[in-house]
Amino acid sequence: MASASSRLSGFYQLSPTQRRQLIATWAELDDEEQAALLGGLDIATADHLIENVIGLYTLPLAIAPNFIINERNYLLPLVIEEPSVVAAMANAARLVRLGGGFRTGSTEPVMIGQIQLIDVPYPHAAALRIRALQDELLAKLAHLHPTIRRLGGGPIELQVRPLPDTDAGPMLIVHLLMDTRDAMGANAINTACETLAPELEAISEGRVLLRILSNLSDQRRAWAECRVPVTALESEDFKGREVAAGIVAANAFAIADPYRAATHNKGLFNGIDAVALATGQDWRAIEAGAHAYAARQGHYRALTDWHVEDAALVGRLEMPLAVGTVGGLTKLHPTARTALKILQRPDARTLSEIMVAAGLAQNLAALRALVSEGIQQGHMRLHARRL
Ligand code: MEV
Repeated sequence: MASASSRLSGFYQLSPTQRRQLIATWAELDDEEQAALLGGLDIATADHLIENVIGLYTLPLAIAPNFIINERNYLLPLVIEEPSVVAAMANAARLVRLGGGFRTGSTEPVMIGQIQLIDVPYPHAAALRIRALQDELLAKLAHLHPTIRRLGGGPIELQVRPLPDTDAGPMLIVHLLMDTRDAMGANAINTACETLAPELEAISEGRVLLRILSNLSDQRRAWAECRVPVTALESEDFKGREVAAGIVAANAFAIADPYRAATHNKGLFNGIDAVALATGQDWRAIEAGAHAYAARQGHYRALTDWHVEDAALVGRLEMPLAVGTVGGLTKLHPTARTALKILQRPDARTLSEIMVAAGLAQNLAALRALVSEGIQQGHMRLHARRL
């Protein structure tokens, strides 16, 4: 399966049933998994997930073909309501394929939890004591999360971050860094923070207030790079090098100007959220982390970089991405489980890398359209073809 090509030319011309059959063969889906593509969650499961359930809400699930990521072929399951996104991504993936596909990487899956200490009488001395007692404090977490530990994860470090001057006076913030392996890790890190809180309260002689993960998961980042031969960007009306130079200038605009950066980064999320929804991820957490990361230098900017090098347009996207492939919806939602199977059952790091590649593909497609025929023209052309 993994060795089958993801280059599916003419896929868009098939009917939904024909497409589903093709994907079922490609990804070796059994009858139950095929059925899950037509609607997965049942009302009883939904009623256990959240409160006051009255029904179910469905969205289109599509496939963006043509992806090569680290020399492996991928078909990307996408849940999205916006026209043109799927076609644009398939197109961008086809262009990137000409340059060898996406290269991706990621950090270890390290989450951050925050414990807020207020009314600390001697913050400096308390910070020193907490640092000195780090090993003993982390040992208090030894009984938690046996599965994560067995797989090589667990608590790593405590960091103390004094906030001497907030609107509510000085406070001491303790960061717990924890490798949550294939779990997104929100529950695991929150439990660990709550477990540590009484000890920190005693050591600091202050009062614990918040004990919760940070969605700015900047210790858990993924990145993707691609090289598109400049000649591949050529169209009837535009020379390849004009389009490449346009994309570089469009990116510079989004680095310099937050008004443009918001739209530029929104486009990335057309790809990233679509994979996140299909695979049962917390897309709000992903967005919150990425937008905070985009403003980390005190100025909100584009998350991408595009430049021209050796007759190729070279793109890169790096961002925090806290995703999980065990637990939560990935287990409960049959469509999410099936989407993960179509992605060849990635671990959490691989899934985050696939998602960054999806974001970069979407950005390439959007910028290419914007610097050439314009996004509305492109939409209309696609729409006419569909009709
Ligand atoms: C629309 O959903 C996304 C774009 O606005 C992104 C961009 O402007 O780069 C086309």
